[in-house]
Amino acid sequence: MRHLIGINDLSSAEIDELIAVALDIIDNPKKYSEKCRGKKLATLFFEPSTRTRLSFEAAMYELGGNVLGFSEANSSSAAKGESVADTAKMISCYADIIAMRHPKEGAPLVASMNASIPVVNAGDGGHNHPTQTLADLLTIKRKKGRFDNLTVGFCGDLKFGRTVHSLIEALSRYTGIKLVLISPEELKLPDYIKNDVIKKHGMDYIETNDLVEAMPNLDILYMTRVQKERFFNEEDYLRLKDSYILTPSKLTNAKDDLCIMHPLPRVNEISVSVDNDPRACYFVQALNGKYMRMALILKLLGIE
Ligand code: CP
Repeated sequence: MRHLIGINDLSSAEIDELIAVALDIIDNPKKYSEKCRGKKLATLFFEPSTRTRLSFEAAMYELGGNVLGFSEANSSSAAKGESVADTAKMISCYADIIAMRHPKEGAPLVASMNASIPVVNAGDGGHNHPTQTLADLLTIKRKKGRFDNLTVGFCGDLKFGRTVHSLIEALSRYTGIKLVLISPEELKLPDYIKNDVIKKHGMDYIETNDLVEAMPNLDILYMTRVQKERFFNEEDYLRLKDSYILTPSKLTNAKDDLCIMHPLPRVNEISVSVDNDPRACYFVQALNGKYMRMALILKLLGIE
């Protein structure tokens, strides 16, 4: 039995295989519409979500399966004190696969150690978000056609942004990746990612707080929201929340084939006036998430 807790649970060959299946699903949706008939996905969301939960659910419905679950901790017995381990044991009696989001880092790992069905980490605190990374990789593949030799700018909250952490981990396996880490001092990438991923894999990287100066070199710009829910202090959040706002004028010196990504939800980081720019990829990125989750469900359930 396989789980997906971090992106490194998948080999590069398996990521390529998931991308190939997702592309086939896009081209031949009917071929897949009965693949999960009789199977149930449990979405256990202890933290808010729009894209991840609903795209997981849409993915299972489009595979012909069914969905059960909860979308807030207070509507589950977690509100009465039930542990993640016991919750995972119970849901194993009712479903075939679990997608879990939890504010505590490591909670999906604990669930996977106690479940008798596959568990997918749908975001754990400020730690990891591997299925967002799968959506990101499909977006890069469709827009750029490759994962090697790309200059990737990550901008905003690099400290708490779990999607950034997971995508850097995924990119570390490819060659010729240059990272441009754009953030205010207080929201810099954590040292453990710099040491255990970037430096360990000899990745080329620079840190800066200047988005406009970095812009001309970028093949991909990955904007992120300042993660209000991870701050202990409202004052710090208010001071930092609008550190970077991408507007058409800031794109003046960007490459014509820049790929602008954002895991969403967006608050102020990208002006709506950028949405019609052909380089804006963030809505198709969210759609790609559904296709990759379909491919992942099939893989973890062992369905050809
Ligand atoms: N990208 C993402 O995880 O969005 P949601 O929080 O809406 O699921």
